Amino acid sequence: MLKGKHIILGVTGGIAAYKSAILTRLLVKAGAEVQVIMTPAAKQFVAPLTFSTLSGKPVISEFFTANTGQWNSHVDLGLWADAMIIAPATASTIGKMANGVADNMLVTTYLSAKAPVFVAPAMDLDMMAHPSTRRNLELLKSYGNHIIEPAEGELASHLVGKGRMEEPEKIVQVLSNFFVPKDLAGKKVIITAGPTYEKIDPVRFIGNYSTGKMGYALADEAARRGASVTVVSGPVAVKPQDSDIKIIPVQTARQMLEAAQTVFADTDIAIMCAAVADYAPDHYTDSKIKREKDEIPVIHLVKNPDIAATLGREKQPGQFLVGFALETDSEQSNAREKMHRKNLDMIVLNSLRDKGAGFGTDTNKVTIFTGEGMSVTYDLKSKPQVASDIFDSIVRCLK
Ligand code: CTP
Repeated sequence: MLKGKHIILGVTGGIAAYKSAILTRLLVKAGAEVQVIMTPAAKQFVAPLTFSTLSGKPVISEFFTANTGQWNSHVDLGLWADAMIIAPATASTIGKMANGVADNMLVTTYLSAKAPVFVAPAMDLDMMAHPSTRRNLELLKSYGNHIIEPAEGELASHLVGKGRMEEPEKIVQVLSNFFVPKDLAGKKVIITAGPTYEKIDPVRFIGNYSTGKMGYALADEAARRGASVTVVSGPVAVKPQDSDIKIIPVQTARQMLEAAQTVFADTDIAIMCAAVADYAPDHYTDSKIKREKDEIPVIHLVKNPDIAATLGREKQPGQFLVGFALETDSEQSNAREKMHRKNLDMIVLNSLRDKGAGFGTDTNKVTIFTGEGMSVTYDLKSKPQVASDIFDSIVRCLK
């Protein structure tokens, strides 16, 4: 998303300036053209040579280049940029930006910039919590700037609290998310994810190896594209990247069905990505089943509800329902049969015969079938890239 984008990176005088060297490197690696502007104080922390080497462009710091007298046009720079990020942003620079104090090249360029501006504050916890800093940040937000809130942790003062500049990887993520086309804006998306646990006794359950990585990658991608997202999630360790994603935690298939049905009526796109246990014990034993018994216990199973098929029956015109098929044999025909039986608009097939596909891996290899009898087979990709392919197909179908 950042390929070819013009990014102004404003560096101000804080210890976290060293992290901005890494940020420069990551932005350049992502294909962006980076122009670094440093405030005079920033040069006390990291030498301009570091930034000019990493960005491949001379650093701008003054209104005029000292030896040539050449004027550095803040207006041209402001127009050149696709985005501007101030990282680290000290309390002083935030105050100047909020109040239009244009006494250095960085704030002057900020005032001239037409592009979206991101601000990553970094300061000591008490400065961060001070009413003037909070007020200035609120002012910046009210002007339409994006604040990348600092994280909590050990600060340069060795005090622990909120004020650490967000990590460069996260900042790059925020910037690239910003440039993702918002083709799902206004859409409501529900995703089932992870395994279900069907309880046997207080310490045992029937489950499966699903980790939820694919479902959560879909949730993150939908949120990036502007959708409002709910995940009905079995027990997993993964977390969504976007704090606006709503998670409804469940354990059993019946709880998953109930939660999914409640949300489904008000949903545009539903993706059934969970690995739902097909069977559950017919009863739950309150106390732990003990070993010192003569007879070996027998667990009787009952069939679980089919969540995808239930939603397929409840589906209204305009709603789009996607399922997954995890197969080992006759993959294509089984997938097509499942799509029709469950009344799905699309099914995503992953074969356990493909290396790198299925449970727990960071990659997946899928074939996407759509209602019109079309299918497209994709290469082995990371799960976030697969999520992007799936939403590209959904958006094409919705058109
Ligand atoms: N699914 C579901 N509820 C179930 C079982 C499956 O919602 N009780 C959904 C899955 O989330 C997936 C699709 O149905 O989107 C197909 O799941 P899969 O396990 O491949 O198929 P099953 O219907 O369970 O059939 P089988 O196990 O016989 O292959």
